[in-house]
Amino acid sequence: MQSQKPFTKDSVTLHHFRRHLLAWFDENKRDLPWRDSRDPYRVWLSEIMLQQTRVAAVIDYYGRFLRRFPTLHHLARARESSVLAAWSGLGYYRRARMLHAAAKKMVAENDETLPTSARELQQFPGIGRYTATAIASIAFGEPVAVVDGNVERVLQRVTGKKLAPEAVWKSAETMLDPSRPGDFNQAMMELGALVCLPRRPKCSSCPLYDFCATRGEHPRSRPAARQQKRTICYSLNLKGRRVQLLQRPSDASLMSAMWELPAISHANGDTPFLKLRHSITNTDYTVKVLKEARVDANARWVDRRQIPRLPLTGLARKILRAAKII
Ligand code: ADE
Repeated sequence: MQSQKPFTKDSVTLHHFRRHLLAWFDENKRDLPWRDSRDPYRVWLSEIMLQQTRVAAVIDYYGRFLRRFPTLHHLARARESSVLAAWSGLGYYRRARMLHAAAKKMVAENDETLPTSARELQQFPGIGRYTATAIASIAFGEPVAVVDGNVERVLQRVTGKKLAPEAVWKSAETMLDPSRPGDFNQAMMELGALVCLPRRPKCSSCPLYDFCATRGEHPRSRPAARQQKRTICYSLNLKGRRVQLLQRPSDASLMSAMWELPAISHANGDTPFLKLRHSITNTDYTVKVLKEARVDANARWVDRRQIPRLPLTGLARKILRAAKII
């Protein structure tokens, strides 16, 4: 096919752009569990889990969460601590609390279903413009464009312009294929995830090569922020079948009301019983776990069989697994 540069929005070019992108998606899309269904509840859950979390990490959680809460009604009826327990390890727990709050509100105020338009979806907790347009286009076929980090990068490169946020949305809306909006949006996200990569884009296998203003000539992206390194220590206190766990304050800004092991300020030169690594955003932690280093008066002795039902922090779960307690 002839080269289409520079990028223009005339209807012939747009038609080809959409056709190439969708043909590529049909051929190359990843086989992901949430793509088996257009059930709005499942689409919603997957889009919330995929925010701030890699696809590979989401797959197991998605299946397990759905076994536990197969429908909107199951989720709406659940206790918050059960929802957090099913989310434990996925991080950014505010997402789970908002998902739960929104499910309750839909059951109470929206005929026990998800609303079908992006505009209405945004009235519910935790559903912003991105999530609303994703659900509305994928589950209900509403012709609304989605912009996430991947889509934004694709559009900046294709147009060769440094677009301001609102201009990115406008551009996505212009490109959107109104006959297959859900697939089009997923194709743009998929292209950003698989081909139009942040650092080394694979331009030679890009279906939009002929339409792209930059074609591999990208301003060098900023190097990734240096990871901080920190050491943290915890005490593992055991009494028979019981383990001492501490609940974080309900007003803590991070992981509020979730359960963890009692922390200690340092390992005091003692040899740890366990040593493991844990990374959160831009910090790599070395985690040292000592046995019976600090018995906390506020902590609770929890029978190990009860532990899987508690909303543990991801790190607490990792430690308890490594210690073969759960
Ligand atoms: N990232 C988040 N949601 C996605 C989807 N539905 N398809 C591809 N990538 C995504």
